[in-house]
Amino acid sequence: MIDWLIATIPIIKIVHIAALVIWCGGLLALPMMLARHDPAVTAEDYRLIRLATHTTYTLFITPAAVVTVIAGTWLIFLRETFVPWLFAKLAFVALLVVVHAWVGHIVARIAEEPGNHRPPAPFLPATAALVLMIAILTLVLAKPALDWIVFPGWLLEPRGGQLPFDVPSR
Ligand code: HEM
Repeated sequence: MIDWLIATIPIIKIVHIAALVIWCGGLLALPMMLARHDPAVTAEDYRLIRLATHTTYTLFITPAAVVTVIAGTWLIFLRETFVPWLFAKLAFVALLVVVHAWVGHIVARIAEEPGNHRPPAPFLPATAALVLMIAILTLVLAKPALDWIVFPGWLLEPRGGQLPFDVPSR
């Protein structure tokens, strides 16, 4: 592979890790912040809390999730990690994205139904996110072989199929 691309791996890994720290930290903090949306507080306090949760979700946590995924995808190709632990990790990342969407749904419901919507107990989304983060970190740091998983042949070999359009040969 081109040398200068290889040289970017540490930078992309730093970006990946910095972004995932913001993403994961946010997914743990936001459920606590959302629990502060109590209809009993004054309208001004409610407005402030709503602004804080909305801003945190849209300006920090969601962009951090996007950067994590983009940098991680680059790392797959640069590090050529086409291995079982990576596929297992991606399955857990997909579930983390579902938790992310769940938290976003709570943020939206609170904005659309001020005073009516009671967010779920914060430990529910926070625990779901934490369990997934631990599973992901275990996979990526231990890099287990997972060679007891038998993949079907069609996942391991090129199928020799033809794209429905022409592509340059180089
Ligand atoms: C779609 C999302 C993601 C993709 C495609 C992805 C992919 C990757 C790849 C290919 C590597 C390089 C592995 C190596 O150098 O051996 C990596 C490193 C890493 N990833 Fe991810 N990742 C994603 C999300 C996450 C998430 C959500 C976490 C944490 C909760 C995470 C934690 C890490 C850590 C800690 C490393 C550094 C591991 C090391 O250098 O040994 N990643 N990721």
